[in-house]
Amino acid sequence: MSNAPFSLQGRVALVTGGTGAIGSAIVAEFLSAGAQVAFTGRRPELQVPSEVDGGVYLRGDSREDGAVKAAVAEVVARFGRFDILVNNAGVARDALLLRTNDELWAEMMETNLRGVFLFCREATRHLLKAREAGRIINISSIVAERGNAGQAAYAASKAGILGLTRALARELGSRGITVNAVAPGFIDSPMTARSIDAQGRADLELEIPLRRMGRCEDVAHMVRFLASPEAGYVTGQVLRVNGGLQV
Ligand SMILES: NC(=O)c1ccc[n+]([C@@H]2O[C@H](COP(=O)([O-])OP(=O)(O)OC[C@H]3O[C@@H](n4cnc5c(N)ncnc54)[C@H](OP(=O)(O)O)[C@@H]3O)[C@@H](O)[C@H]2O)c1
Repeated sequence: MSNAPFSLQGRVALVTGGTGAIGSAIVAEFLSAGAQVAFTGRRPELQVPSEVDGGVYLRGDSREDGAVKAAVAEVVARFGRFDILVNNAGVARDALLLRTNDELWAEMMETNLRGVFLFCREATRHLLKAREAGRIINISSIVAERGNAGQAAYAASKAGILGLTRALARELGSRGITVNAVAPGFIDSPMTARSIDAQGRADLELEIPLRRMGRCEDVAHMVRFLASPEAGYVTGQVLRVNGGLQV
């Protein structure tokens, strides 16, 4: 293992949703930290962004138990170990309560919450062998704690991640696995652009103490810290990366 700060040399990581904006920044950050990285997503290989070159793409849907099992098995088969799981895959579809139909509710819960549960359950048997290096990092959202009009289903799914994280931190701590959540604020990304127009963005930036939206890299830096040996005594926490919007 390297002595460089926050090095992930020798570690093997799986990042779900590594084809997306924040996920690809996490994959790139892990690769630059020396980790061997696999990542998931649903899009065809040709549409995978170039930032993740050097990582191994495992195409599959987080909602499908078989795809989750196959992805975890492939990581172990290729790299011979499994140290770090980042549950980042997620979807956001906005609707006011009275327009939130059962299909939308189910999609949020299936992807954002059940997918995280499936990956945690499948990966844990391997993380147990990582000896003090086992890490689970779940990407939640500022709206899990703060709420947001028009995002009841999304907020509920992201709040569920916080309960799952805290329970697993208690359950797996004695086995040397840390479990934490990262709650990004409003990150400059296509997901945010879909729900906030230019005026909304200007208003929001005035409200954020650091006066800017977050960058995908801001989230990736926090995830790298939590994955690193230096974060070995941090578990069960929600690390907020939001420019001070929620304190
Ligand atoms: N952007 C923000 O401001 C913000 C703020 C707070 C929290 N977050 C959270 O951060 C995470 C990443 O968000 P983002 O902005 O990077 O969104 P994004 O660009 O839309 O990326 C979402 C990723 O999740 C994957 N994904 C979605 N559904 C999936 C499924 N059923 N199976 C497998 N993969 C699936 C996508 O894969 P494909 O595209 O290949 O299908 C993509 O890689 C999400 O959990 C989101 O809720 C984002």
